[in-house]
Amino acid sequence: MRTVSKIILIITSFLRAIFFKKKPIKTTNQPIWKIGHRGAAGYCPENTFVSFERAFEMGADYIELDVQLTKDGRLAVIHDTTVNRTTNGKGRVSDFTMDELKKLDAGSWFREEFKDEQIPELGEVLDRFVGRVGLLIELKKPLLYPSIEEKTAEELIKRNISKGNENIIVQSFDRKSMKRFHSILPSVPVGILVKYNGPGLSNMELRKIAEYASFINPKITIANKRVLNRISQHGLKAIIWTIRNRRDATRMKELQPAGIVADYPDLL
Ligand code: G3P
Ligand code: CA
Repeated sequence: MRTVSKIILIITSFLRAIFFKKKPIKTTNQPIWKIGHRGAAGYCPENTFVSFERAFEMGADYIELDVQLTKDGRLAVIHDTTVNRTTNGKGRVSDFTMDELKKLDAGSWFREEFKDEQIPELGEVLDRFVGRVGLLIELKKPLLYPSIEEKTAEELIKRNISKGNENIIVQSFDRKSMKRFHSILPSVPVGILVKYNGPGLSNMELRKIAEYASFINPKITIANKRVLNRISQHGLKAIIWTIRNRRDATRMKELQPAGIVADYPDLL
């Protein structure tokens, strides 16, 4: 009896392998979204208005940005958990109020000409860009900021911009956080960032993610035909990140993802 089950298992695995091989990566001819990483981080200080405007001028379809919570519960647009690298200040984002963050110089570290740049608040970015360009909002380290999902949803609801089109996508490495965000605001699509080495996501994990997410967003180092095929076979779309040269841009475009994130949006 055990031998019979083994034979059945071998045959079904063999058939599954053939079936998966024959599936195309993507059947649509949709243009690939050009997504500016932290704005146009290759040209301007990341996550600032000057960077977002530059990405827009360069024809980005979406602007990617990072969000964290301040001491007074406001949503600051900044990548690192400290202000040390990208401002003239020192300390954790969570130890500053939004007004204190606003006093920091968020541009000089990149080049002196950007010295007047400030850390934006998410609400300001929404007010300035929704309707002009899409926004790919990454919730950074949600474990440090227990109410970040609710606060982000509130900002979208308040502005009546949660109507279920794809001009706003929320993403994170944290799956629990994205599941939570989806349960709060299911009309806004969410994505899971992945950069695993080794065996990668199991089919069971992919199925679980597909229950609440619309995107799985792989790092360029793991993006290939097989990975994109598996994502698409689970009914999910892929946004690949982060491209920094023309050769990689060409290589990643061949995979036909939904979007590509680049430091230099004009490479796309
Ligand atoms: O959009 C993906 C990318 O932004 C994730 O990595 O470190 O640049 O936030 P990181
Ligand atoms: Ca990011």
